[in-house]
Amino acid sequence: FLPPSSSGGGGGATAKDRAGKDIAVDKLLADSAPIDRVISLGIDVNGGDATYIVINDKQIANYGINAVCTHLGCVVPWDTGAQLFKCPCHGSQYNADGSLHRGPAPMPLALVKAAVQDNHVVFSPWTEQDFRCSDLWCNKDPYWKK
Ligand code: FES
Repeated sequence: FLPPSSSGGGGGATAKDRAGKDIAVDKLLADSAPIDRVISLGIDVNGGDATYIVINDKQIANYGINAVCTHLGCVVPWDTGAQLFKCPCHGSQYNADGSLHRGPAPMPLALVKAAVQDNHVVFSPWTEQDFRCSDLWCNKDPYWKK
């Protein structure tokens, strides 16, 4: 895919930490597990901005995961030990790629694109088919597409 041309432009948004500062990729990778999910302030997909940066094999994946539960909108924490997102509100669980593991949530967590530019993570809208498959969901058009 074509990454956004510049941070903040073309629908892109630079991932920020809790203090609102741009996240530096080199420091993030040094501080993270080889497989990790790091919450950040990202792009507005579902009316919520919390977005997970996906780290697989010590590299930033080309997608991020919206952290808002598709049941009733709680922010879903990442459980490193279980390698699942576990919603504290009503028990929904999502796999490491945000696909639905267990309800009551009806849909997977929304996706955004992620690209590394100038040592920052830049999110942009994901408008292509959802590449994930689970028992309940596979290769659908994104429900979050506006
Ligand atoms: Fe997440 Fe209900 S809001 S399970």
